[in-house]
Amino acid sequence: VLTKFQRDCATPKPFLRKVADAISDDMRAGLAVQGGGDLDMILTFVDALPSGKEEGLFYALDLGGTNFRVRSVELGGKEKRVVAAESEQLSIPHELMIGTSEQLFGFIASKLADFVAKEKPGQFPLEQGRKREIGFTFSFPVYQTSIDSGTLIKWTKGFHVSGMEGKNVVACLNEAMEAHGLDMRVSALVNDGVGTLAGARYWDEDVMVGVILGTGTNACYVEQKSAIPKLQNKSSSGTTVINTEWGGFSKILPRTIFDQEMDKESLNPGEHLYEKMISGMYLGEIVRRVLLQMCKTSDLFGQFVPVKLSSPFALRTEDLCKMQEDNTDDLMSVGSFLYNFLEVEANLKARRRVVEVCDTVVKRGGRLAGAGIVAILEKIENETKRMASGQRTVVAIDGALYEKYPQYRRYMQDSLVELLGHDLASHVVIKHTKDVSGLGAALLAATNSIY
Ligand code: BG6
Ligand code: GLC
Repeated sequence: VLTKFQRDCATPKPFLRKVADAISDDMRAGLAVQGGGDLDMILTFVDALPSGKEEGLFYALDLGGTNFRVRSVELGGKEKRVVAAESEQLSIPHELMIGTSEQLFGFIASKLADFVAKEKPGQFPLEQGRKREIGFTFSFPVYQTSIDSGTLIKWTKGFHVSGMEGKNVVACLNEAMEAHGLDMRVSALVNDGVGTLAGARYWDEDVMVGVILGTGTNACYVEQKSAIPKLQNKSSSGTTVINTEWGGFSKILPRTIFDQEMDKESLNPGEHLYEKMISGMYLGEIVRRVLLQMCKTSDLFGQFVPVKLSSPFALRTEDLCKMQEDNTDDLMSVGSFLYNFLEVEANLKARRRVVEVCDTVVKRGGRLAGAGIVAILEKIENETKRMASGQRTVVAIDGALYEKYPQYRRYMQDSLVELLGHDLASHVVIKHTKDVSGLGAALLAATNSIY
């Protein structure tokens, strides 16, 4: 099982090149017409990224894959930048991910109401007739109809809130805010990749791409309007931000039987196949499925098949990371993890095989993610010749997978250099920008303030 699995997961350079080219092709197809390729290439209506001059108090709501955050940010303009910021983070209760839209947005509005209620009376005086403004990071595919509205295309990352698809996300939030007596207004609705790009750009003008490698994955980037045939206003010049929704890429991926079965049993079968191979929600689950098969057919732990291995999503990507941290010869901490997790006494051979499975899945994921970044960089290069002219191009990355998994980061970086070559790659800066997407959304609310 293991040798075949390793063979099926291989991502040699010529293959990665094909993946990068296929992603670029789908980017172009999606820019030509809606639904032209696997990538939605969503128009975000973000034509102006933060300049640093933004001023005033803005709020940010951030519904990610795992966490929900509320923030307030006081922006002080070019000199002072962020004067003060408050934030609160909660993990999203699982029942809300699969409940009703009233429950989900009721939860968001109630947390926002609690947050605002903690402000001291008169702390942030408002001019008459002015509402407090919000940048709303909503980390799911949304068909934007303007900067401050959009309808949900579909759920991803294990969310399945009933009756939401096709609904206006901001209208749902507005209803819930009204029910909680909150007189606030969403001035920018943004994807987390867009928020990351905007937040990182505030501090560094060379940021051209925002990537998320966490529970889910996505990439958003700055595109020339002239390269977007589907843009309605044909005469427009300048740039705009595109939300690629690259998780939807599906061509030529090295999908094994384990990937196929996981997909079949997921809440969104047939969708976001690239995401299911490279993002944090799924890597642990793929490993679990391979280990279970190895127990059943190649006696990984003798005749013993641990009960827990049959439980979907029991093995988390952070567990893989923990096991891969063990670089001792006898893999003692892998052994104790397996003992605690599966109640199995794994011999050294079994411990090594477990680590090899983890590494195979993480290597494939990291290298495929690198190919995706190359596809975007080459698309930008095509339009602007930035890197060839020696200009640095910054890719801002956020997400727990990237942050916490050193082997994944290394595999991603390796494939990037392999594909771009050392010269071009030397102009690319990969920056870990933690939690800037809320700031980015608040900044975009400022840029798009109606007052
Ligand atoms: C955060 C964003 O910084 O990163 C979220 O603001 C986003 O909206 C996320 O989804 C990725 O986080 P995670 O928990 O999926 O690693
Ligand atoms: C999923 C969502 C996408 C989001 C990404 C990262 O792929 O569809 O909108 O940006 O996860 O959170």
